[in-house]
This record gives sequence, C-alpha cells and structure tokens, in this order.
Amino acid sequence: MTDMGSQGISPPARLSIVVPSFNEASNIPLLYAALDRTLRDVAWEMIYVDDNSPDGTADRVRELANQDARVRVVHRFGRRGLSSACVEGILASAAPFVVVMDADLQHDEKIIPGMLKALENGRGELVAASRYVDGGGVGDWSKERAWASRFATSIAKWLTGTELSDPMSGFFAIERAAFMRSLPHLSSIGFKILLDIAASAPKPLRVVELPYEFRNRQHGESKLDSLVLWEYFQLLLDKLVGKYIPVRFITFGMVGGLGVIVHFSILTALFKGLGTTFAIAQGVATFVAITSNFYLNNLLTYRDRRLHGWGLVRGWVTFNLICATGAAANVGVADWLFERPTSWVWSALAGIGVSVVWNYAVSGVVTWRKRS
Ligand code: GDD
Ligand code: MN
Repeated sequence: MTDMGSQGISPPARLSIVVPSFNEASNIPLLYAALDRTLRDVAWEMIYVDDNSPDGTADRVRELANQDARVRVVHRFGRRGLSSACVEGILASAAPFVVVMDADLQHDEKIIPGMLKALENGRGELVAASRYVDGGGVGDWSKERAWASRFATSIAKWLTGTELSDPMSGFFAIERAAFMRSLPHLSSIGFKILLDIAASAPKPLRVVELPYEFRNRQHGESKLDSLVLWEYFQLLLDKLVGKYIPVRFITFGMVGGLGVIVHFSILTALFKGLGTTFAIAQGVATFVAITSNFYLNNLLTYRDRRLHGWGLVRGWVTFNLICATGAAANVGVADWLFERPTSWVWSALAGIGVSVVWNYAVSGVVTWRKRS
C-alpha cells in the first residue's frame, strides 16, 4: 500500500512573487539569485508571466524551474500587456500573500520582507513600494521623465481620488483576498496595475507605503513607449465611465470624429481649392478618411490586437467593406426617417448613429477579431 502521509508533500508557499517579463532573458538568473538571498526565512515561489519574448525569456525560466520547483512560468502566446500579465500571474498562484515586481532588478527586493510583515501583522491589505515617500527616489531619471511621472501621478489622484503617493509603481504586495475583491472590476488596460487594483476596490483598501530607490536597468531595455501615456489615459477613462460605456467605443467614436475633420479638409482642398468635380472630391475624401480611420483604430482602439504585414492589408479591405455597408445602412435609415415627420438633422444623426454602431460592432469581430 502506498503511504498517504505527509511524505512527498512540499510545504506550501506563503508568498507568491509575480513577475511580468518581456525580453528579460539575462535578468532571469539575477533576480532569482537576489530573491533567494533576501528571502531566506520565507516560503516563497515565483511566477513569471512571459508574452512569448523573442529573446527566449520563457526558456530561461523553464531551465530554472527544472532546478528549483519554486519557479515557474505562465507562457502566453499571441498577446501582450503588462497589467493583464500581472493579473493572470496572481490568478495562477495560491499563496495568501502576493508580491508583484518587475523582472529587470529596478525594484529593490530587499524591502520585500518588510512588505510581507506589514501584510501579516494586519497593518495593511496593500503595501505599495513608493519612490515618493521619505527615503525613496527615482535614481537618475531625466528631468522630463521625472516630471512626466509626477504629472501623471497628480492626474490619477485627481480623477480616482487614490491616496497612493506613487500609483504608477509596478511594485507592491497585496493580500490575495483583497485582490480578489478588486478582480471583477479591473480594467487590465496598459501598464498601471497598482492604480487599477486600488481604484477598483469596492471599499478603499488599507494601504501602507514603504520607500524604495528605483534602480537603473543593467540589462535589456524599457518597454515603455510613447503610447503608454495613451493607455494610461484609457485606464483612467475606463475607471470614470467604463461602467456605462466601453472605452473602446469612445475611442472608436473619437477616431470617427477625427475622420470627419480629415474628410472635410480634403473635400474642401479638392473641390474648393483645386476645382475638381464634387463627386471626385467626395470620393477621394471618403477613401482617405476611411484609411486614416483604419490606421488610427489599429494604433489606438485595437492596440492590443494590432495588425501587421498582410494582416494589415486584409484588415484594411474588410474595414472598407464594413464601412461601405455601414454607409448604406446610414442612408437607408436616414431616408426612412426623413420620409416620416422627422427633421432632416435628426434623420441624418440617426443614420450616422446606426452606421457608427454597425462599424464598431462588426469591425470588432471581423477586422480586429481576437486571434485564437
Ligand atoms: N508579460 C509582459 N508583457 N511583461 C511586460 C510587458 C508585456 O507586454 N511589457 C513590459 N513587461 C515587463 C518588463 O519585462 C518588466 O519586467 C516590467 O514589465 C516593466 O517593464 P519596463 O519596460 O522595465 O518598464 P519601466 O521600467 O520603464 O517602468 C516600470 O517601472 C515603473 C516604476 O515602478 C513599470 O512597472 C512602470 O509601470 C512603473 O511606473
Ligand atoms: Mn524597468
């Protein structure tokens, strides 16, 4: 008979450390060694969430996992996103306490024992590592980046009323139970998972802040690009109005509004400026406006499902077909209303409304369909 006693059962982790990674291969052994050194007295485990990094980060983690069972990787395919990676890493683990930190050693692991202690003795449900309390700092950032970070922080305070001094930080510890209460309300857009969790809590979280000095990156490079600011704006918008209207739809509508401006600029330039026939001017304006809408939606509205290469060409074709159908529906509805006692303005607006909703709904499942 087999022995079903405690033999062969390894002690469960008290702390799950979730590490989002993208192209961090050379940092993998370094962070592991640093945690191993610092967390001697803690039963910990680490879960990397890697978005199929081309530099083979996931393989490096698997090598480690084959030597130490406390390490593992959630390897995602066909997707990108820092916030969603953190969420899925937390959900793939089980310890009562969780730390989220970057893979690149910029977050000082030496404060983790203190973070855990503050959770364990009930001082807080969320312990945020902060660069902006006494004893913290941002290392040698450029003036611009330091300023941008402070600016984004004050907007977050203003819009979400968060108490956090450093809501942009990607370094924090949280009770699993507290995270689970925020989970159903998360936006999971962009980079700012801490702000998302804090702003999504049904009841304000009890927060403790611990200072740390943001280190400089030694290996690899930052993935923050200019569109991080855009994603940040979308996160805030989602926290403000996401309950009533999808942020994607708002973005789609904004791009459409911009398209109207593009359309009229070209129409005026050709018809009034160059003296082409109205039909030619209107045709060229429509073509350019649809193409620029397609480009901007690909860049902004569906950034997470962005099309490249041939996918871009195919997407552009389907988008044109969808918009053409939308335009036909637009005219149909507007004309039908115009025949009833409805003013021409309301008829036109109703037609536009129908085509916007049609274009949005259909392009979301055809042009930018989720890849399986
Ligand atoms: N899975 C996954 N998917 N991981 C990602 C992705 C992604 O699309 N993009 C970035 N990462 C990982 C990186 O590999 C790194 O471990 C971590 O997320 C942070 O990315 P960095 O590119 O190093 O960002 P940063 O150093 O410029 O800014 C970070 O630190 C700031 C201060 O805490 C980010 O965490 C910011 O959000 C934070 O404000
Ligand atoms: Mn970094």
